Amino acid sequence: MSRCTEITEESIRTLVDSFYERVRKDQELGPIFDHAIGSTDEAWEPHLQVMYGFWSSVMLSSGRYRGNPLRKHLSLPPFDTALFDRWLMLFAETARELHNPELADLYIAKSAQIAGSLRRMMEAERQTDNRLEATVQLRSFVEPRSRTPD
Ligand code: HEM
Repeated sequence: MSRCTEITEESIRTLVDSFYERVRKDQELGPIFDHAIGSTDEAWEPHLQVMYGFWSSVMLSSGRYRGNPLRKHLSLPPFDTALFDRWLMLFAETARELHNPELADLYIAKSAQIAGSLRRMMEAERQTDNRLEATVQLRSFVEPRSRTPD
């Protein structure tokens, strides 16, 4: 198969389609996505459209994506952030299969940067949540039981 040597809107669609085909089949990532998006091709279409725009904005600076990935990911049911490594592995595998080594490296570098910041922000957010939860729990040990009027 000839590998793509130029990034175009069309090559981005091929990459995104191929990547999410793998994601949907993946035992660990698939269920997270299916739960949030659905399991039919129709349900997936809007997500794929968003992702074409996202990668076009990242790689071609087209400004097609206007969204807030961090907020989206934070609103998902919490998942193990170690899964970012698996996401990156599948993405790198797809990028390498479809592109020459230089382009694949560009995609892989961008994906690693973005995944790194998403992961750090999600972990920081959870630390804050954990701290709040621990504070509430600690308080329940030391504070008098809610007083009922005599
Ligand atoms: C383990 C890692 C990841 C998981 C489980 C995950 C999961 C998801 C899910 C379920 C959605 C759909 C949310 C919805 O529409 O309700 C989503 C959206 C999205 N993801 Fe991820 N994701 C991961 C990593 C990444 C990474 C590394 C990137 C970027 C390089 C990324 C970029 C996006 C973007 C741009 C959207 C669309 C947000 C929007 O609708 O504006 N994700 N992700």
